[in-house]
Amino acid sequence: VLSSDERRKTLEYEIFIQTLEDISKELPRIERTAKGVSMLDALISLALVSLEENYTRPELTDDNTIELVDARHPVLSKIKGYNKYVPNDITLDTEDTQIMIVTGPNMAGKSTLMRMTAHIVILAQMGSFVPASKARIGIVDRVFTRVGASDFLSRGLSTFMVEMVEVGTILKKATRRSLILLDEVGRGTSTFDGISIAWAIAEDIHDRIRARTIFATHYHELTDLSLTKPRIKNFSVSVHEFNKEIIFLYKLVPGGTSLSYGIQVAGLAGIPEEVINRAYEILKNLMEAEFDDIGRPRLSKSEKRKDTSQLSLFHTNTRNEILDEIDAIDINSLTPLEALNFLSKLKDRLKQKR
Ligand SMILES: Nc1ncnc2c1ncn2[C@@H]1O[C@H](COP(=O)(O)OP(=O)(O)O)[C@@H](O)[C@H]1O
Ligand SMILES: [Mg+2]
Repeated sequence: VLSSDERRKTLEYEIFIQTLEDISKELPRIERTAKGVSMLDALISLALVSLEENYTRPELTDDNTIELVDARHPVLSKIKGYNKYVPNDITLDTEDTQIMIVTGPNMAGKSTLMRMTAHIVILAQMGSFVPASKARIGIVDRVFTRVGASDFLSRGLSTFMVEMVEVGTILKKATRRSLILLDEVGRGTSTFDGISIAWAIAEDIHDRIRARTIFATHYHELTDLSLTKPRIKNFSVSVHEFNKEIIFLYKLVPGGTSLSYGIQVAGLAGIPEEVINRAYEILKNLMEAEFDDIGRPRLSKSEKRKDTSQLSLFHTNTRNEILDEIDAIDINSLTPLEALNFLSKLKDRLKQKR
């Protein structure tokens, strides 16, 4: 029994090896077939989606323009449905509108707009039809993107570091034929740092690289770039304000916006009403620039000064510590919510020592 079992196993193994050899002889043919089938699969998918979603044949040109009419994000417009997606027009070139600065509140559709542009350019250069009613695309040598907040903390890099490494690469590698998409560059650091870096990057792309660029930002300060740089143009994604609420229209319009509607968006996101109202109060103080004794904006309304002569030594120490902490915070990198948390912690500590 044992020997017949062994013979069976040996035989089985021999047949197995023989089969492998037979197959491997045909490997190139099998690979060619697989390639052919996958290519066919991809082409049929593109043909089908072009038909179903009413895509258009792009015109590829040798000049440095990108002109899209009624362009849509291929994935989002499918998810949202044809009627709910708002199409947009994009015109970029290296003579007149080289850099589009797109401002608008969070959730207004800035990132979608940029990704849409990249998708359409890549689809067109693949040989596909594209989701737009008209598309003229001056061939792009590379698409450079700095988008999303994907952080590489596991690799030991902070979000800001990753952002700067990527932008560094873009500035080194991009050419006049490239398409550059920058989404909220500078967000990873304090406001003033962020604005300064973003500003300098935009200037370099304008003056030296001259690549077609879309730069989405919530730093409305960057809209001033268009005052000094002829090929930088401002756009914004429109929203409609109604009874302290905002309605997103998703339509790209010429001109910048200085409104960020951050608090309204926070409200939409479900932050409790008391917190939202308090945030409005703080915002009002900041806008009215109520300053403290040494010229910093106050986050809370100034209370009438209390007589401090009767405070215990202990109490005074706490107050001094608190003053030091206030001195140490960087207002520029603080969100209103963080400011609020900070304030409430300080108040708690004052209460405890009372
Ligand atoms: N053109 C559009 N039509 C309809 N909905 C849109 C459009 N653009 C964006 N949206 C919706 O708005 C959401 C936020 O868009 P996003 O581009 O991330 O905004 P932002 O980058 O300005 O914060 C998207 O997830 C999508 O649901
Ligand atoms: Mg965005």
